[in-house]
Amino acid sequence: MKKLLVLVAVAVFVAGFSLTSFASGPADITFKAKMGNVAFPHAAHQGKVSDCNTCHHKGTDDAKCSTCHDGTKAPKAKDAYHKQCKNCHKKMGGPTGCKECHVK
Ligand code: HEC
Ligand code: HEC
Ligand code: HEC
Ligand code: HEC
Repeated sequence: MKKLLVLVAVAVFVAGFSLTSFASGPADITFKAKMGNVAFPHAAHQGKVSDCNTCHHKGTDDAKCSTCHDGTKAPKAKDAYHKQCKNCHKKMGGPTGCKECHVK
């Protein structure tokens, strides 16, 4: 009986853990670009920026930026990324040069 309880506890822990990591999105994201692909360490950013809505600003942390940023409903995705990534890096540190982000 004790053994079963331990197993159940472990299962609940594992399920809870994978649920959390799923809700947090991918740990690493790569944006494809002709200029050179851009690496975005998402999990590392979550460690540095505690409020998800700093980036997922419409309270939609389950949606891709491009669902709104299509150039009609909201500024084009490229401009939205550039503005958000660079503005924060100027304030908090992080890459701001083209070739620091766009790596061929
Ligand atoms: C520094 C900015 C930043 C922070 C902080 C951040 N995210 Fe993200 N997140 C992004 C970007 C950029 C993407 C990629 C969106 C895209 O592909 O258009 C993304 C993608 C995601 C995705 C995948 C969306 C999809 O449909 O592919 C999920 C889920 C997610 N984030 C959840 C979270 C949660 C939960 C938090 C807080 C714990 C968080 N994010 C914090 C910038 C951030
Ligand atoms: C649900 C729709 C929606 C989603 C999802 C969304 N945005 Fe936005 N965003 C908007 C709208 C609409 C605006 C226009 C100004 C405003 O209402 O804030 C905007 C404005 C911005 C601006 C300011 C643009 C400017 O020229 O001043 C930035 C930067 C930005 N978004 C970045 C992002 C990033 C990065 C993501 C994904 C992590 C994202 N947005 C997801 C709707 C969205
Ligand atoms: C709200 C703030 C914020 C936003 C938005 C943000 N970053 Fe960052 N980023 C940081 C901070 C803070 C660091 C760490 C700086 C340091 O430690 O020197 C960082 C570092 C990085 C690094 C270097 C990681 C390393 O291991 O050296 C990359 C690459 C990066 N960011 C890409 C991006 C991209 C691409 C975007 C936009 C999609 C973005 N960031 C948006 C805050 C932000
Ligand atoms: C903080 C990181 C970062 C910096 C710095 C940066 N970019 Fe970007 N850039 C991105 C991201 C993220 C995208 C979005 C890629 C996508 O839409 O999938 C992008 C998209 C682009 C695109 C359109 C996509 C393509 O196929 O190339 C061009 C052009 C571009 N950037 C040019 C530049 C230039 C020129 C500079 C320097 C003045 C620069 N970028 C600096 C992150 C950055």
